[in-house]
Amino acid sequence: MTEFQLLKNAQPTTENVREAIKADPGFGNHFTDHMAHVRFTREQGWHAHTVKPYGPLVLDPAAAVFHYGQEIFEGLKAYRHADGSIWTFRPEKNAARINISAERLALPQIDEDDFVGSLKALVEQDAAWVPTPQNDLDECSLYLRPFMIASETFLGVRSSHEVDYYVIASPADAYFPGGVKPVSIWLSPNLKRASHGGTGFAKCGGNYAASLAAGDQAAANGCAQVLFTDAAESKYLEELGGMNLMLVTKDGRLLTPNLGDSILDGVTRRSLIELAPQVGLTPEERPITLEEWREGAASGDIVEAFACGTAAVITPIGQLKGEDFTIEQSTEPGEKSMQLRETLLGIQYGRVEDTNGWMVRL
Ligand code: COI
Repeated sequence: MTEFQLLKNAQPTTENVREAIKADPGFGNHFTDHMAHVRFTREQGWHAHTVKPYGPLVLDPAAAVFHYGQEIFEGLKAYRHADGSIWTFRPEKNAARINISAERLALPQIDEDDFVGSLKALVEQDAAWVPTPQNDLDECSLYLRPFMIASETFLGVRSSHEVDYYVIASPADAYFPGGVKPVSIWLSPNLKRASHGGTGFAKCGGNYAASLAAGDQAAANGCAQVLFTDAAESKYLEELGGMNLMLVTKDGRLLTPNLGDSILDGVTRRSLIELAPQVGLTPEERPITLEEWREGAASGDIVEAFACGTAAVITPIGQLKGEDFTIEQSTEPGEKSMQLRETLLGIQYGRVEDTNGWMVRL
């Protein structure tokens, strides 16, 4: 594995301040003392692997990322187990996905060794920032955010010949304040996230930028997230602004939209599909219409709905609000959703045996 050169932060956060942050971090508000960085040029490939002090980046105003949005990212977490050891979850899946995103966004491929090595090198340096869960419901972790940007100074529209890859880390609590309470979701009536042939399957900033106006509509309607339907017919459920969608039926099926080129292949989504049989659910990945959800919820055939993702883990959905309709699910978290959540978090925090070999020690 490539060595990361360490440039220590000469002014790290004091222990008192760090512990106060870890006690109540929220999500994405605070960052650790270091960041990992690897530089790419056409001539040298990936080189200059470093872990260095966290701080502002100096980029030329003409850097390609500012103009054409050539950027991709990942999200995964570092978990502290009861014995103090620090682990992450299926990082090879994120490594594979960043390369799928890179191919679509015309960015260079990065070796799994460099990707996982960058996480290890950063977490080794900032291990004191990984929070310790206080109980089985506590989902505190160190959220890791690898990202790759086009940094060539050039205004022509073509793929950048210079690229920078970074990993930053942020102590984190539940993504939705309020923990596992069911959230309300807004169905965007007119705005779409992704269409066939586009970038929906890639984890690129552009997809999230495209979701923000609809996210604002959601907030204006008292909802925590937005749900998108397909761009062509507005008929099929796709995904939320930053997470995948799952429904549970009364007869024990776990429904989720099948992956096409407009839906992100979530690591949590994939893992829950694999864990479903352990909680008595049969997974079904297939096209699901909004109408099917509406009728199923009304008839009692669809009994639970939840959002899932690295940040969201499993967040129950209490209702889906549209411009002229509301689908009511339960006001309490569903039984199967909670069993899945407990199983997944149990594996991630080392409380449940990891029979699949998903956990990687950092
Ligand atoms: C993640 O779950 O890691 C994401 O990237 C989603 C984002 C909304 C935080």
